Amino acid sequence: MIHLIPAHFAHRVSTYPIDGYVSGEDWVAQLPRLLAELLDEWELEPVAPTTAGACSIALPVRLLGSGRDLAGVSGEAVLKVTWPHPEAASEALALQLWNGRGAVRLYRADPARFAILLERLHPRDLSSVPVDTACEVIGDLLSRLRRPSHPRVPRLVEYAERQAVELRRAPPVIPRRYLDQAAALAGELVTREPLEETLLHTDLHFENVLGAHRAPWLAIDPKPMTGDPAFEVAPALWNRSDELGTGAEIRGSLRRRLEIICERAGLDEGRARAWTIVRETDNAVDAAQDPHGRNRVSLAVVIIKAMND
Ligand SMILES: Nc1ncnc2c1ncn2[C@@H]1O[C@H](COP(=O)(O)OP(=O)(O)OP(=O)(O)O)[C@@H](O)[C@H]1O
Ligand SMILES: [Mg+2]
Repeated sequence: MIHLIPAHFAHRVSTYPIDGYVSGEDWVAQLPRLLAELLDEWELEPVAPTTAGACSIALPVRLLGSGRDLAGVSGEAVLKVTWPHPEAASEALALQLWNGRGAVRLYRADPARFAILLERLHPRDLSSVPVDTACEVIGDLLSRLRRPSHPRVPRLVEYAERQAVELRRAPPVIPRRYLDQAAALAGELVTREPLEETLLHTDLHFENVLGAHRAPWLAIDPKPMTGDPAFEVAPALWNRSDELGTGAEIRGSLRRRLEIICERAGLDEGRARAWTIVRETDNAVDAAQDPHGRNRVSLAVVIIKAMND
């Protein structure tokens, strides 16, 4: 019997407090039954061990019975089940809107149970590809993913309006002037022209891009929003941070990643830098609440400085 729920995943998720739906502990307690029901109802058979993310598990499966044709010749798919929280609530809707263009294909979904059945992609992700090339891939994917959004997807304007208030009130975990700058930018960015609003993949980092059969690379795990596409660049700057170099090199490495992605995706660098400042300030405030978050706060300051200079 393939092991379905990794112990470290159950342990970690059990610590999550309710974020709109159910506590991590209560959800983990229901998870064995939820998985068994989904495997039964959707006629799936596990074929490989589960991969655990921060909030979800992804289980490779074979489709049995009447649904077989969904998955093409391989007959395989991945069942992803997520601990219910707002960021994940419109994942299925976004994947449905992309309909396989630049992103993993969605075979079926049960939004109420935060369960989706996905095209099975390769285990290989962009973290093993040289970083400049990986940034080119991310820039190209961002331009492929650009399309109109849907009214049910959360709006970036609302996130920005919240940040404009909360960052100004936040404790000085990083120098006050950065908090104030980020709060001001959050307010300005959503009123400053041009106000192009598209469906956004707000978490396009190297591990959320997997190799595939039908395209060299496809995006997974979108944490969708509707708004300014320049918002999408930042995760490729704060991930793979051990490859940024040291001292004066860091600024150059960050600016190079930003330039490559903006060039490939046709984005305005100034807006991408400004959104990165807002997002990294938000990340710093979150990381400061985590007893192990000190290095993350320092990284945020380095990135904010590099975006300013
Ligand atoms: N369609 C797929 N095909 C193959 N593997 C997949 C697929 N979807 C997810 N995975 C694997 O499961 C892992 C977790 O998936 P995903 O990134 O969607 O979940 P998550 O919990 O939202 O992740 P994160 O930790 O980034 O928040 C991926 O990194 C990947 O290794
Ligand atoms: Mg992920």
